[in-house]
Amino acid sequence: RSMPWRKKWINPKEFDGREEVLGSVLGKRAYEVWVSEVMLQQTRVSTVIPYFNTWISKWPTVQDLANANHDDVLAAWKGLGYYSRATRLHEGAKAMIAKSKGSSCPLPSKALELQDFPGIGRYTAGAVSSIAFGEAEPVLDGNVARVLSRQLGLYMDAKDKKASDSLWDEADRLIKHVSDVSGTNTSAIPGQWNQALMELGSTICTPRPQCGDCPIQSTCRAYAEGQALSDKRQAPT
Ligand code: ADE
Repeated sequence: RSMPWRKKWINPKEFDGREEVLGSVLGKRAYEVWVSEVMLQQTRVSTVIPYFNTWISKWPTVQDLANANHDDVLAAWKGLGYYSRATRLHEGAKAMIAKSKGSSCPLPSKALELQDFPGIGRYTAGAVSSIAFGEAEPVLDGNVARVLSRQLGLYMDAKDKKASDSLWDEADRLIKHVSDVSGTNTSAIPGQWNQALMELGSTICTPRPQCGDCPIQSTCRAYAEGQALSDKRQAPT
């Protein structure tokens, strides 16, 4: 599915000796992934797309957002709801600029460093790190949790803290494996993998799944056990 924050992978080798240029290309991309992920947290893709495009033309870089007037930031969010998300983006941008001291790429590539910024939790950090930088970092939101829970036959409800911890562990194990098998010049794979899980969970593996259309039905444990509709363990009959 086409989305404006999805871009062709960049091969860092093509930027040999032009690290500044590479930094600004990756920095812009990471900023776009960050903005899109925050907008998508409580809002559907089709609603987000026009807001995302307007936002990026108003503030094309982290630096532009950091310099913005807060009332303008809130005004650009009007209609998306949950305004604290806009404030967190603005605060995050200011903190990144304060910390990165003129670097062309104010967002760090590592998920742990990203989580030091206001409003960036494990999910957003994993999304930016994997999608923009190709790092082998997991993501887990409600959609991904449902896909993994069903596919692996775990019958877990991600709202439960212990279940969500083990689903994060599964997501981490899988993304490390994906990255290991993906070879050298396909380092975009972790980001593709994560986005494929998100999209499968939001389109097909929904609370009422359309298993007949699912591309991974044949490996789905819950489907095999006749339990795809259940997110709780039931004795397979
Ligand atoms: N939902 C949240 N982030 C997404 C992404 N990058 N692709 C598809 N769906 C998403």
